[in-house]
Amino acid sequence: MNKPEHWDSSYDLGIIAIDEQHQELISIAEDLAKKAISKETTFEEIKIRFDALLGYTKYHLGMEEYVMQQSNFGDYDAHKAEHDKFVNDIQSLRLQLKQHNVFIAKTAAQLLQIWLIKHIQVIDKSFVDFLLKKYPNIQANDLLQHAYDDLVLNS
Ligand SMILES: [Fe+2]
Ligand SMILES: [Fe+2]
Repeated sequence: MNKPEHWDSSYDLGIIAIDEQHQELISIAEDLAKKAISKETTFEEIKIRFDALLGYTKYHLGMEEYVMQQSNFGDYDAHKAEHDKFVNDIQSLRLQLKQHNVFIAKTAAQLLQIWLIKHIQVIDKSFVDFLLKKYPNIQANDLLQHAYDDLVLNS
């Protein structure tokens, strides 16, 4: 698990499984932004990081959506719509990514960071607060921790 360079304690929502995934996401975005600025970076290196970012984003959002459904979270539709819009934005940037087009990579990394921080502090926070009201912290953490196994084993 990578630690991001820029992390504020206000981004920690109180369930370790979610906080760790948010840290990983921000750290992937930071890595992409750093690579996009460097002149020595090849197009291939940017593409690899861009796909890592897209892959981990989908993974994390999928976990949240799964647990939202399992826990009967009332604001599921609105939260899912935010996720879907974000994935679409990243995917359309990925399609625009042309050779040596570091601008796209930088834009995507910035977009991810800004969106994520806002999303974590407002939208994810309300979901985590709901979970912590409904379950003891350990149980809420277990739900998220095991969401991947459930998703894979039941698919
Ligand atoms: Fe999240
Ligand atoms: Fe979310």
